[in-house]
Amino acid sequence: MLETIRETADFLKSKTDLRPTIGIILGTGLGGLVKEIDIEMAIPYEEIPNFPVSTVEGHSGRLIFGRINGVPVLAMQGRFHYYEGYDMQHVTFPVRVMKAFGIDKLLVSNASGGLNPEFEVGDIMVITDHINMFGDNPLIGKNYNELGPRFPDMSEPYSKELSARALDLGKQFGFDLKQGVYVGTTGPTFETPAEYKMFRVLGADAVGMSTVPEIIVARHMEMTCFGISIITDSGVPGQIVEVSHEEVQEVAAAAEPKMTKVIKELVTTL
Ligand code: HPA
Repeated sequence: MLETIRETADFLKSKTDLRPTIGIILGTGLGGLVKEIDIEMAIPYEEIPNFPVSTVEGHSGRLIFGRINGVPVLAMQGRFHYYEGYDMQHVTFPVRVMKAFGIDKLLVSNASGGLNPEFEVGDIMVITDHINMFGDNPLIGKNYNELGPRFPDMSEPYSKELSARALDLGKQFGFDLKQGVYVGTTGPTFETPAEYKMFRVLGADAVGMSTVPEIIVARHMEMTCFGISIITDSGVPGQIVEVSHEEVQEVAAAAEPKMTKVIKELVTTL
């Protein structure tokens, strides 16, 4: 595993002179940030050695090296989801590579269902904490002490400082940013009404099918993490209506400019 990570990081280093320390994972419908990147190089995942091979969809995405407001970043346009059939090590492999490349700050975005009755569809939530309901963990198996400890601390999974900064930026821009706990689950089914209720009772404000594995691995390596989620549908009793992936994408795309603005400015402060 260590050799594989190093090989991929070395390959990327041989392709570009840019050495960003900020990594960004762009989730569902949030690709608009790409327009804010002055791209120096973009590589399809298929062309990156050891990257997971796309099983279901035609193209799984690309890795983008460029600058936002002059600040070098490495962005993943598209991520690997557990529900696609990748195991946890494959889902999180790009994060391992990012760290080996020199990235020590990870900004993650996603789409999620709202559980907090005070949230509305189209709201943006800064992720302050998460609950792992995947029934799996990317750190199960042999631990590589070179990467991180056997039993990693998770007392501050998402940087309080970065969350506070994002909330401040939201205020400056006049956005009503929410904050809350994200519960990650496998999907691909959206929740039943009883499941939404259960996740609310467990203490979550939003539910989605990603992010938790990547953050666990990033924290294992002591990367500073920030997460932001677009509430694309409601799991609040009395408000639950039929939901489709297309609707999730539409709502995410509509809210995306606000999220992009926050991330763009946040990057500039790092
Ligand atoms: N549940 C799980 N994942 C999601 C949802 C949801 O309601 N909306 C967007 N991603």
